[in-house]
Amino acid sequence: MKKGNNKFYITTPLYYVNASPHIGHSYTNIAADAIARYKRWALQDEKNVHFLTGTDEHGQKIQAAADEAKMSAQDFVDKTVLQFKDLWKGLDISCDDFIRTTEDRHIKTVQRVLEILHKKGDIYEGKYEGWYCTPCESFWTESQAVGKLCPDCKRPVEKITETNYFFKLSKYQEWLIQYIKNSDNVNFIKPPKRMNEVLSFLELNKLTDLCISRPKERLNWGIPVPFSSEHVTYVWFDALINYISAVGHFDEKDKYVSKWWGPDVEIVHLIGKDILRQHASYWPIMLHALGIRQPDTIFGHGWWLIDQAKMSKSKGNVVSPLDMVNQFGIDTYRYFLLRDVPFGLDGNFSEEGIVKRYNSDLANDLGNLVYRTLTMVEKYFEGNVPEIGALNERGQQIAKKTKALAQDIGFPLAADAGFDFSATLGKIWQLINMANKYIEDTKPWNLAKENKTEELKTFIRLLIDVIRAVAGGIVFFMPHTAESILEQIGKEKIKKGKPLFPRIV
Ligand code: ME8
Ligand code: MG
Repeated sequence: MKKGNNKFYITTPLYYVNASPHIGHSYTNIAADAIARYKRWALQDEKNVHFLTGTDEHGQKIQAAADEAKMSAQDFVDKTVLQFKDLWKGLDISCDDFIRTTEDRHIKTVQRVLEILHKKGDIYEGKYEGWYCTPCESFWTESQAVGKLCPDCKRPVEKITETNYFFKLSKYQEWLIQYIKNSDNVNFIKPPKRMNEVLSFLELNKLTDLCISRPKERLNWGIPVPFSSEHVTYVWFDALINYISAVGHFDEKDKYVSKWWGPDVEIVHLIGKDILRQHASYWPIMLHALGIRQPDTIFGHGWWLIDQAKMSKSKGNVVSPLDMVNQFGIDTYRYFLLRDVPFGLDGNFSEEGIVKRYNSDLANDLGNLVYRTLTMVEKYFEGNVPEIGALNERGQQIAKKTKALAQDIGFPLAADAGFDFSATLGKIWQLINMANKYIEDTKPWNLAKENKTEELKTFIRLLIDVIRAVAGGIVFFMPHTAESILEQIGKEKIKKGKPLFPRIV
């Protein structure tokens, strides 16, 4: 975090409501949730953190899905949005706000943005001729649409000629290149691979101005363009504005005001790498043209694949997050997604993968440490948590690690370090494994036999302290498990429960 930032604003993409959410959507929100929970703790007051998610409800794709369901677009989105809201509840997503692009607060801001940029001359009327991919809501030039196929999804594109409005991306291309290259902005596009991708695209291609309207005769389901009775707004131009429409407004002098977009706020947009271009090129230019500061970090994470293919609703290979939660539990599911793949890389999703992690990391390592430690407290001290005495060398090492973890799980969860959940959890598991090894090597039953009571007390109390620190570390990732552990440890007297993670056979 930059010095002086005492507030934190994190966003997720606004998901299209044309189909049910899948694992990919849940991944971004679980990651954002872990960061938000961590920052609420690190910034010492939950009021210093704002976590926004929501849904993208306009455009051709939604209209087509509504047509197919034989519903009005409005009724359709009102129904499908509930799947997303329910899922976030089911996954313990602690968002502070949920924005729908069909809400008044959003529509008003989008129209205001259009007016401001139009007045400024950054939006102009022109003729559009080119190729259009409906599923991707994207325009392509002749040379991009090789074989009349969309270069992204490989499906057929349509030829389109019409009068539309354009946003002058080209005017700001050079500014954007310099902004990204500026050494003050090394965290602007993360991970570095994604930054290089954006930069080389910008350096090799001339940005064409962005067509930001659709004629109503072709598509009615969108935000009306305030200066044309014949157009609605292009869904991407509409949707990106949510990040500011949700948290502020334009004053009478066209200045944007927001508690969550000031100089004292660290702003992070979490997205998948599939929508990097829109977030790392269009959005910064839109903000710049409006005279609004840039976010600190746009992080494009990797994809969950199934048999090496991206999981996506259009491919029909999706897995339902709630099915996984019903089968394995919320915390296991959250743990698996954040632990199995370093944030930023692609990962292969499989149930066997979850079972493997569950049995080794959760049942064997964490679950076992808690269960056998509490069993010893019951057996040797009638459930009373003993006092700590003089530590041996090994004990001192463990105590040092424990203290460090209790103070801060730390650096890998910051933007600079790429929000490395996997490494963060790996650090916590190092301590768990150290403690388990310590138990095996110490053989506490011998201490008991030999009546070495003071040693046994210190040994067990240290383990309790380790478990307490571990609970404090995993609480951002696995809130229920952390809570259950802390309940079982109690203060002076333990309340041992069932094993946290019974082995799956
Ligand atoms: O693009 N692996 O919405 P969308 C990981 N409405 N993450 C995945 C994923 C996968 N296989 N599939 C999807 C849109 N995601 C626009 C966004 S923002 C102003 C507008 C996640 O419903 C990932 O976060 O297609 C990706 O960027 C997002 O879902 C795309 O969701
Ligand atoms: Mg998509």
